[in-house]
Amino acid sequence: MREILALGALLVAVPWGFHARAAEPVRARHAMVVTREAHATDAGVAVLRAGGNAVDAAVAVGFALAVTLPAAGNIGGGGFMLLRVTDGRTTFIDFRERAPKKASRDMYLGPDGNPTQDSEAGYRAAGVPGTVRGLELAHRKYGKKPWAGLLAPAVSLARDGFDVSYGLARSLRASRLLARFPESRRIFQRDGAYYEAGERFRQPELAGTLDRIARSGAADFYEGETARKLAAGMVANGGLITLEDLKQYSAVEREPLRGRYRGYEILTAPPPSSGGTGILQMMGVLEKSGYEKHGAGSAASIHFVAETMRRFFAARNTYLADPDYVRVPVAGLLDKRYVAKLRESIDPERATRSSEVSALDPAGYESSETTHYSIVDAQGNAASVTYTINGGYGCGVTAPGLGFLLNNEMDDFTAKPGSPNAAGLVQGEANAIQPGKRPLSSMTPTIVLRDGRLFLVAGSPGSGRIISTVLEVLLNVIDFGMNVRDAVDRPRFHHQWKPDTLFMEPGFSPDTLALLRGRGHNVETVSGIGEAAAILAEGGWLQGAADSRSEGKASGY
Ligand code: GLY
Repeated sequence: MREILALGALLVAVPWGFHARAAEPVRARHAMVVTREAHATDAGVAVLRAGGNAVDAAVAVGFALAVTLPAAGNIGGGGFMLLRVTDGRTTFIDFRERAPKKASRDMYLGPDGNPTQDSEAGYRAAGVPGTVRGLELAHRKYGKKPWAGLLAPAVSLARDGFDVSYGLARSLRASRLLARFPESRRIFQRDGAYYEAGERFRQPELAGTLDRIARSGAADFYEGETARKLAAGMVANGGLITLEDLKQYSAVEREPLRGRYRGYEILTAPPPSSGGTGILQMMGVLEKSGYEKHGAGSAASIHFVAETMRRFFAARNTYLADPDYVRVPVAGLLDKRYVAKLRESIDPERATRSSEVSALDPAGYESSETTHYSIVDAQGNAASVTYTINGGYGCGVTAPGLGFLLNNEMDDFTAKPGSPNAAGLVQGEANAIQPGKRPLSSMTPTIVLRDGRLFLVAGSPGSGRIISTVLEVLLNVIDFGMNVRDAVDRPRFHHQWKPDTLFMEPGFSPDTLALLRGRGHNVETVSGIGEAAAILAEGGWLQGAADSRSEGKASGY
């Protein structure tokens, strides 16, 4: 959804010496919620106003989005929650989907040895969902309001309905994937009598499922009525997920990755996300490069950052995977000498061909539809949450009788080394399918501290483009002094090594594109890189920005 809203603009001084027009963020003194969808934002703010903390609000928002943003909000998928509480504790809750026990390395290869579409659509594309367990774990350890009350807005949005926005109506109508599966076509496309903007959308089956989860917790989803119906639907339709897979699913807490950039402390996503490793490695390359002297949006600075991305993605697609199954050389990929070698290999004037870039051995060495929300509560606790069903509307299948869409996260695995997945990522052996394994992710929920205090909360959807989006938002704030609204709305670019293409959003000048082509880049214009949701804490104010590429909403008090 790419509707650029008319936004108020004002002149602000920027450090690289000219005046740029900058739009205003939403400002609040105490607490802020930024999500991709207005009802979900309102549900989160209501919880905060009632004395709930950031985790309580994150739970309420997660379940509300599962109702109001069916393309990405979910209980049939998985994700990551990065938390930082005011006493300084941090944690990363990994509720990424897992491969079912019956999954196998070559399960998506056809008779000709090439990948089929089975990892993208239909029952066989789904990994074991993690969202409900993950939100429950976060709530049990860090929340304070009663669980059922946090699900109440979602239950009521599903049961009583909500008014469909223009963007949602357009998206539901346009989905050919939903049209392929009768239950999805009935619920989301009214069998062809498509929802119009302003019409009420009620989801009684989903309301029933959410109501059971409100009363019985995750036990219903993984062992109770929901689990039994989900497993029966799988058996009847050739899917792989069993009752046993559901029972055995657990969400896990991991240590967030930590690094420093120009005096700021960066807390970000560890494997099985590739995102945090990417942010820290790329910031390491950029820190001593002087790239920022060329100014935001200049061909010279874009070139340098794109070359940095190219090199990271070569390493990402080779080495990163689920650390519970594969030894992932994070320390080596972030090692100072390794990062310096990457920096030295960049020609500031010429693009390196991707065919000439392969992942350097790390020092000591022996994945569009996702959604992100950012929350800060009145105590300064922060939750940065990215969750997903992978593609828009996941695998297209609505769990029979349960009203929720299932993910197609299995496509984030390597179906065949060297062949691109639906996101165009060309991945390697480390990320091959194994029963129980989590597919490599690009989701990058991130929190930045300044002088030990909360400074920035950010994240984005967009498969591999997530990592570039989060990096650019951080660089726009830290290196180019933009306010958070401007940092989020600026046109973005992305390079992922293969294909050897510099993807650029509309909004860069033709001169800039020509200069980049002159440096040897294959430039392709694409219509949307990420949809960031960010909160900046500065001068006693919280600044919130939902990306103007979306119908999102920032709101606080
Ligand atoms: N499914 C998108 C990601 O996890 O990267």
